[in-house]
Amino acid sequence: MPSSARFLMCPPEYYGIEYEINPWMDRRQPADQQQANAQWQALHQLLLDTGASIALAEPQKGLPDLVFSANAALVYQQRAILSHFLHEQRQAEQPYWECCLTDLGFEVDPAPTGMSFEGAGDALFCGKTLFAGYRIRSDALGHQTIAADLGIPLIPLELIDDYYYHLDTCFCPLNANQAIYFPPAFDPYGRQVLSQTIDDLIAVDAEEAGRFACNAVVVGKTVITNSGCPQLHEALAGRGYEPQETDLSEFVKAGGSAKCLTLRLDGEEAADW
Ligand code: ARG
Repeated sequence: MPSSARFLMCPPEYYGIEYEINPWMDRRQPADQQQANAQWQALHQLLLDTGASIALAEPQKGLPDLVFSANAALVYQQRAILSHFLHEQRQAEQPYWECCLTDLGFEVDPAPTGMSFEGAGDALFCGKTLFAGYRIRSDALGHQTIAADLGIPLIPLELIDDYYYHLDTCFCPLNANQAIYFPPAFDPYGRQVLSQTIDDLIAVDAEEAGRFACNAVVVGKTVITNSGCPQLHEALAGRGYEPQETDLSEFVKAGGSAKCLTLRLDGEEAADW
C-alpha cells in the first residue's frame, strides 16, 4: 500500500572507512563492500515495502560517508537547511546535497554562518518542537538561529558521550509524545528536560544502544532498526508498533545505522507540521 512517506537515500557504491571522525571508525576494520551493498539494498527494500517512495542521490567517488543522507540537511516543509559539517572530510559533501535537494524542489538555505550543523543527524522534530543535539558535531548557537528563522520551538540537548556524537544515535521520536532514547548519552539536565517534555520515553540499555537501537527509521507503525535489539523490539511491540530488524553491521563500522542512511523528505513520522 503506498504511503505518503518520502525518503532520500544514497547507494553505498563508494562507501568505506577511509578516515576516522568518530570512535566507531577504525581504518583497520574496513567495511566489506559486497556486504554493505546487500545490507543497504535490504534496508531500501524494507522501506519500499512500507509503501514509501525513495529518491536516490548519486554516489560520489571520494565521499564515503555520502551514504548517510540523514546528515544532508534539516527538512522543514518546503525548506531544507543545508548541513555544514564539522569535519573537513565531510564538507565536500555539501555541494552535492545542495544540488540534490534543489533538484528535489526544496528551497535550500545554508547553515548559519560560521556554525557547524549536521542536519537531521542532530535535529529531530517531536511534535512541533525541534530537539537539537549540540557540542560534539553541531553548535548550540546554530540550532538557535535555525529555530528562530523557522519560527519553531527548540529544545537544545547537550551530547556528552563521543560514541553518541549525533542526536539520532541516542534519541528517536516515535510520535509527538513518545521516543526511544539512551539516557547516558545526555547529562542529568538533558534527561530531566526529556522527561518533562515527552510522556513516554523508552530507554534502551548500553548493549542495544551500542547496536544503534536508537537509530531507528519510523514509517507509520513500522520501526526499522539494526539487528540485535530484542528488548527495544519487545517494548515497541507492547506499544502497538511493528518492529523490524535488518543487519547493518557494515555501516555500524562508520558509526551509522538505519536512520543515518535515510533522510525523510516529507517530515519525520513524529513531526507535527
Ligand atoms: N561516519 C559518519 C560521521 O561520522 C557517520 C554519520 C552517521 N550519521 C548519523 N546521522 N548519525 O559523520
